Amino acid sequence: MMSQLRRRLFVAFGAAITVTGLVASLVTGALSDRGSWRAQRTRMERFAGARFAEVWEQPDARAALASSVSGELRLRVELRDRDGRTLLLRAPAGTAEAGCAHPALRSRVVGAGGATLGEARFCHVDATWGAGRTALLLLAVVAVIWKMAGGIARRMARPLDDLVEVVRDIGEGRLDRRARLQTHGHSELGLLARVVNDMAARIEAQVAAQKELLATVSHELRSPLARVRFLLETARSEEAEVGARASAIAEVEDELEGIDALVGDLLASSRMDFQAMQRVRLDATEVATRALTKEGVDLAVLDAPDEAIPIVGDATLLTTALVNLIGNAQRHAGGLRALRLRREGDTVRFEVDDPGGGIPEDELPRIFEPFYRGSGASRRGGAGLGLSLVRRIASSHGGAVWASNLPGGGARVGFSVACEASAPGVASA
Ligand SMILES: Nc1ncnc2c1ncn2[C@@H]1O[C@H](COP(=O)(O)OP(=O)(O)OP(=O)(O)O)[C@@H](O)[C@H]1O
Ligand SMILES: [Mg+2]
Repeated sequence: MMSQLRRRLFVAFGAAITVTGLVASLVTGALSDRGSWRAQRTRMERFAGARFAEVWEQPDARAALASSVSGELRLRVELRDRDGRTLLLRAPAGTAEAGCAHPALRSRVVGAGGATLGEARFCHVDATWGAGRTALLLLAVVAVIWKMAGGIARRMARPLDDLVEVVRDIGEGRLDRRARLQTHGHSELGLLARVVNDMAARIEAQVAAQKELLATVSHELRSPLARVRFLLETARSEEAEVGARASAIAEVEDELEGIDALVGDLLASSRMDFQAMQRVRLDATEVATRALTKEGVDLAVLDAPDEAIPIVGDATLLTTALVNLIGNAQRHAGGLRALRLRREGDTVRFEVDDPGGGIPEDELPRIFEPFYRGSGASRRGGAGLGLSLVRRIASSHGGAVWASNLPGGGARVGFSVACEASAPGVASA
């Protein structure tokens, strides 16, 4: 396939160079002053004719003039009488005397009475370019064009060749393949190679992240499922006490809740992966109320302005983000102190305060990374995905995330969302 490209490039460049050459020579021919050149030649012919007319009748002087013209101007000279018979031949020193069949200049020698006395013919010594030489020259030109077109085609096709191979390898699953950049660093090809490399790196990272996610999720689902099976056996057992059965069933419910939350996070994440967000106009306070109700938290913890705060976003994703923050406060910090809602400039800030022991300072920068679980994380459940999902949801809504420890103890974790005004052109809820 690449040799086809090289051939096409070769033909294209060869044709372009040839056409350019032809056009250039045509233009030069059209622009050069052919008329004045012809007039000049006529003047020279007349001048030579007049000089020979002066000495035509004196053979010695005539021969001397012919020798002098031939020697000084390096031309072969042939004088003919009025019947066309050769009178005299002269050639410059070192060249053979010969007739001048195809003269460069041809002067009629006219006597005083206007009668034709004869003719003086002048030929270039090596004027016989001849068809052979012209063909050779043409051949040489064609060879040079051929070589140049071939060289250019090869130079252009080779890096493309390499790139095609790299892209093919990547397509076949060798995601660690990269294009070499050094030779065409700043050219368009270099840019293309860099784009391909970036693309490959991103795909590689994404595939690695997906694999890790799949492995973690499988693991995270397996342990609660095993526990559910064990608890159900206890609940079904006739020997177990009524109290033990009831607590087993309550624990099954807990485990199922955990599984439900994990699957919910995964669904939310894949909705963003597939760009399936449904952005609508929402009231931030309503979203917060919905999240608190979902988690069974008393609405008294909601600390929000009285008026509605219009935002634009995906209601399910924003609720998921808040549910994650609320869930973290409950699981890692023993409860929820407040869910604060504030409008600040072009953004709306959601913050969850808790009364727990806070987050160790050295862990603060890492808690939003996927799969990161802190040292103080509750023993039960948790893949370390909650806050990374919050971060993705916030950034897909034009916002950011943050976490800090409160002076009086406990942590404050929050995220922001761009206001309605800064996200125009959406459907109404
Ligand atoms: N309110 C909080 N108080 C103390 N530590 C917290 C709090 N919120 C988060 N963390 C710490 O940050 C870590 C990451 O939180 P994240 O929500 O991403 O994961 P997780 O809660 O452990 O698991 P998952 O949310 O996937 O069930 C937690 O493991 C915990 O150590
Ligand atoms: Mg969490």
